[in-house]
Amino acid sequence: MSYTTLKMIHVSAVALSICGFTARGLGVLQGASWVRHRLARTVPHAVDTVLLLSALGMLWIIRLPPWAAPWLRAKIIGLVVYIALGVVALHPSRVGQTPRPRAVRLAAWVAAIGVFGYIVSVALTKSPRGALLWW
Ligand code: HEM
Repeated sequence: MSYTTLKMIHVSAVALSICGFTARGLGVLQGASWVRHRLARTVPHAVDTVLLLSALGMLWIIRLPPWAAPWLRAKIIGLVVYIALGVVALHPSRVGQTPRPRAVRLAAWVAAIGVFGYIVSVALTKSPRGALLWW
């Protein structure tokens, strides 16, 4: 598979990932039942796996280790923070635990979308400062 094809797959997975995350966040905050459906819980994992594998595929083609460039390190750290905030925002608390307050979920959801925007800006600028370069 070519670099261009992998990049197209990566960017498509990026778009699907943020659309799905935004929709699930709205669903959870509104108490919608569809967010508990098996598809709503499994498809995001498949999309995020494609996102990561396409990124690794591109790096493999150009023989660049993921830690080799500061902007790639920033993306990896950003991805970990995005996933952690996503768990707080979307995942139910464990049985026996007090449910997370709605305000905490809302704050984590908004912060995760902000972090996602930062990662996109890092991708476009190829700098860990991302959108800060535009100011
Ligand atoms: C939520 C996580 C991520 C988002 C939102 C994201 C977003 C993007 C976007 C929008 C592009 C296209 C940039 C352009 O058109 O110039 C891109 C390209 C790319 N991303 Fe990601 N990405 C993510 C995760 C990762 C990770 C974890 C890696 C690798 C460690 C990675 C590696 C790359 C590479 C190598 C390119 C191609 C750069 C180029 O040729 O211009 N991405 N990413």
